[in-house]
Amino acid sequence: MVTGFHGSPRIGGNTDILLGEAVRAAADAGHETQVFRLNSMDIRPCQNCGGCEETGVCVLKDDMDEVYDAIRGADRIILASPIFFFALSAQTKKMIDRCQAFWCEKYLLKRTIPGGPYGRKGLLIMVGGMKRDDGIHCGEVTAKAFFRTISVPQHETVSFLGIDAKGAVLEHPTALKDVHELGKKLVLPTDVVS
Ligand SMILES: Cc1cc2nc3c(=O)[nH]c(=O)nc-3n(C[C@H](O)[C@H](O)[C@H](O)COP(=O)(O)O)c2cc1C
Repeated sequence: MVTGFHGSPRIGGNTDILLGEAVRAAADAGHETQVFRLNSMDIRPCQNCGGCEETGVCVLKDDMDEVYDAIRGADRIILASPIFFFALSAQTKKMIDRCQAFWCEKYLLKRTIPGGPYGRKGLLIMVGGMKRDDGIHCGEVTAKAFFRTISVPQHETVSFLGIDAKGAVLEHPTALKDVHELGKKLVLPTDVVS
């Protein structure tokens, strides 16, 4: 299963277009896909209550339950976010913070999510309106922590800067082809590492 997370509030915006193209490539290669539109989901921010420390299970009950199941079941995960204030969007970050439950499961309870027959691999897609790349660096560090926490041992990153208006990425000379190729590559077999 290829699971995508759409972290922009703009439907039909740049992140949406790029994620859609990567997911389409995976689907065209015969893989099952699903996309979570984080902006329209009921996901509360992590309360740092410690409730997951002994169980690895979050005590909050909301749409994150669906995300936890999807993360466990996916062997390919695509995280797609615009850069907001030099970081991943709040929609994306809220979901990531709730993965503290996986952090506890992995690092306190010493249980990783099994790699399964196809291993686990990730793809990070970022798009920013400015030409400065500070946000891309911040996003990369956060996303790397996310992927490793959810037992995804390897990921590729692609980012596009200077793309601001809704849909402007369609005018980029290579962006759609780039993410299409990365989507195709994502579903290639990998060495199983967990
Ligand atoms: C609240 C907000 C903060 C933003 N901050 C940045 C930023 O720090 N760096 C940047 O490159 N672009 C920034 N942008 C521009 C967006 O990254 C850009 O418009 C992007 O194309 C939006 O992608 P989307 O169409 O998928 O929503 C910001 C936009 C908003 C709404």
